[in-house]
Amino acid sequence: MNVSNDGAPSGAFGPISAQSARALAVSMDESGFGVLNDVVSASVLAKLRRTVSELIEQNGFKYFAFNGAAWCVNTCLGPLFDDVELLALVRQLYMLKMGVSPPSDRILPVMRVLAGEQGRRHSCNFHYDSYVVSILLPVLIPCDPGEPPGHLVMFPNLRNARRSSMVNILEKLLIEKLLAPVWRLAFVQKWLSAKVVTLTPGNLYFFWGMRSLHANQAGAPSRVRCTVLLHFGDPHERSMFKGLSHRLHVMRLRRMTRG
Ligand SMILES: [Fe+2]
Repeated sequence: MNVSNDGAPSGAFGPISAQSARALAVSMDESGFGVLNDVVSASVLAKLRRTVSELIEQNGFKYFAFNGAAWCVNTCLGPLFDDVELLALVRQLYMLKMGVSPPSDRILPVMRVLAGEQGRRHSCNFHYDSYVVSILLPVLIPCDPGEPPGHLVMFPNLRNARRSSMVNILEKLLIEKLLAPVWRLAFVQKWLSAKVVTLTPGNLYFFWGMRSLHANQAGAPSRVRCTVLLHFGDPHERSMFKGLSHRLHVMRLRRMTRG
């Protein structure tokens, strides 16, 4: 996917420093998330939004997503994806949480576009990420007065990061499949102190994706919601069960798309 191949303008990104790691980690532990404000400029957001509009014109008003480094590296988000300080920051966060070095320096970028009824089906699907550190960049978030917003909702740090991949897979099956309807209930969200994170485009929101059960709120089917996620640090990336975990994830996405 070609988000924009004419590069990022100067001043496109605010500074990121690995020295933010400890403060971010404390915030992620205590309130579920940490924020770096105004990292992505309005001009980059405008480019991304133009591209999303073009993609919707080409593909229809529905859900779609792009996974992996290939869509990201030569786009206006490339400099952020390649930022050595960002990598140093996520490495620090991983080590602070896990007490060991990450298994690799791979960052997995994902762009999610939610629109129409398919977009609604991909909302409120609570899950744990396979990665310890998750970063969310809001690009387009419906939030006009009187309309359902598309913010992030999470049960912060509901579990510890799992060191066993098999335990992780079984737990994800139980929580994300069998108990899926439970997490949407208002009284459950209140009882377990679910947190709604109000998203402002251009900020970077950091959270422990593997520990925090999370989902996006459902916006109106007539609106478009777009986010970019950067995932880092899969402690099970060398596990023999990784293929099984990936297949389950793909099946889950297909099921939601079919509805
Ligand atoms: Fe996620």
